[in-house]
Amino acid sequence: MNFHVLTLFPQMILDGMNTSIMGRAIDRGKLSVDAVNIRDFSTNKHMKVDDYTYGGGAGMLMQAAPVCAAYRSIEERIGKKPRVIYLTPQGRVFNQSMAWEFAQEDELVFLCGHYEGIDERALQLIVTDYVSIGDYVLTGGELPAMVVMDAVARLVPGVLNNNESAQFESFHDNLLEYPQYTRPEEFEGMKVPDILLSGDHAKVEQWRLEQSIERTRKFRPDLYEKYIQEHPPTAKKKKHH
Ligand code: ADE
Repeated sequence: MNFHVLTLFPQMILDGMNTSIMGRAIDRGKLSVDAVNIRDFSTNKHMKVDDYTYGGGAGMLMQAAPVCAAYRSIEERIGKKPRVIYLTPQGRVFNQSMAWEFAQEDELVFLCGHYEGIDERALQLIVTDYVSIGDYVLTGGELPAMVVMDAVARLVPGVLNNNESAQFESFHDNLLEYPQYTRPEEFEGMKVPDILLSGDHAKVEQWRLEQSIERTRKFRPDLYEKYIQEHPPTAKKKKHH
């Protein structure tokens, strides 16, 4: 997977992406991240990339020309028209199924806005997906782009150590994760649930599923509704052996 980020703050992207699991995946050649500085494509003698908005109003807007030129440099380099994700609170709210969808691509471009946004014409020309990471407003698209890249990267084969581990966890089946414990068996008077020490694998799995369902019902009733729709409770529960 090759990520390309159009940004005014390339160092922020490089610093954020070259650490931990992402950094390891880059070293192993499973991922690449290149940050393209939009300012390098300014034709203004002061390397200006923003201007006042037509019609008035507060703030500056990023101009179409440097944004489009920066994008086209990527398109030329990779020799195809990639998906271009613009991070904006106006977008579709990001979730795990969108992460799976983006993970199928070989190349992904992220467009990060700053100031009050980007000239609409640049967006019309290059953007394929408008994505928000939640209903709050940040100062720029860099953190949201890194959030999306992190979620996508860990679904790319070979990025996580255990290829399976991305599949069976929170949001698999719309359920939250069950509680987990490691040594010691007792900490500040709190014991690890007996069932986890029983060695009965089937019972452990049953307990974990029940915990997941109960947590989801309590903390995320919206996800619980989806889960119930896909797994209607049966009138009489069959016994597991
Ligand atoms: N840019 C500013 N706020 C944002 C958000 N919540 N999601 C995506 N991009 C943004």
